[in-house]
Amino acid sequence: MIHKLYYQELGLVNTTDMLQRALDEGFAVPAYNFNNMEQLQAIISGCVASKSPVILQVSDNARHYIHPVMLPHLVVGAVAMAEALGHSIPIALHLDHGGSFDLCRDCIESGFSSVMIDGSHMPLQENMTLTRRVVEFAHDFDVTVEGELAGPANIENEGRSGGSLYTQPEEVEEFVRQTGVDSLAISIGTSHGTIKFNAGTGERAPRLRFDILDEVASRVPWFPIVLHGASSASPDDVIIINQYGGRVDNAEDIPEEELRRASQTAVCKIDVDGDSRLSMTAAVRKSLVENPGALDPREYLGPTRDALAEMVKYKNEKVFGSADRV
Ligand code: G3H
Ligand code: 13P
Repeated sequence: MIHKLYYQELGLVNTTDMLQRALDEGFAVPAYNFNNMEQLQAIISGCVASKSPVILQVSDNARHYIHPVMLPHLVVGAVAMAEALGHSIPIALHLDHGGSFDLCRDCIESGFSSVMIDGSHMPLQENMTLTRRVVEFAHDFDVTVEGELAGPANIENEGRSGGSLYTQPEEVEEFVRQTGVDSLAISIGTSHGTIKFNAGTGERAPRLRFDILDEVASRVPWFPIVLHGASSASPDDVIIINQYGGRVDNAEDIPEEELRRASQTAVCKIDVDGDSRLSMTAAVRKSLVENPGALDPREYLGPTRDALAEMVKYKNEKVFGSADRV
């Protein structure tokens, strides 16, 4: 039997205070996904260097890639590393896209300070019931919960398919009230991965729907809103990947100026995974091609880690506005 471990023992915080401060001061807390030690080191270095709070985020796949038992120990190391680098920053460990109550419970009992329960593919009532169940369990352990409410076109049941892809603002109020959730991911034009929108058709990516965001914010004032699928697909990284033997077509993500603008609104958590993947892939490809004799993983993973740390620092300072907030 696995020993239960709660986040308070790991030096972590939940997301309540960091999201509240982001809301009050008009910035967004970055939530960086990671899968391995180098990514974790890079995220910590970049966030300490920019004095930013951070949400360390893992999907269920990433949790198993690392190993569920090893993960909290890796994160304890990350907290200690941040302190050793000279700045104590608030660090949360968050489950990204939790698909079931059991998964959320397992994560809460193994050191997570925040979980996402993603019922966005379900009819509204089922999504609310599941989210409420997770909230009730999580709050007993002072763990924060993020829910997700997608547009009806993402939902195949209830005869609602074919509708808008965007979150319906009128549903947000009810969702927040009925579930007691601490933050909510909504759809205003973002999507996961490095290829978004109309890949392959040559159509220009639509802008974020700030009108929907404003409507949501007026219905649930001072409530923390989350943006998923918000990577910016640095053209420089795409060029390097393609130049050094890789192949990335049609990468088109959310323009930085839109994320900068969103960060100043009710959006107080922005997720980043695709941009980290691009940054690391570009750096590792370049490094291996330029050093054909490299056999020591440190020779190519070291520069890769440095590139990601720079990207994290840049985003905190220039896009999310989370730098110098600790
Ligand atoms: O939204 C999902 C995240 O980008 C993580 O994806 O399941 O491949 O780790 P993953
Ligand atoms: P990107 O794929 O745009 O980085 O989004 C990641 C994300 O939202 C993780 O939840």
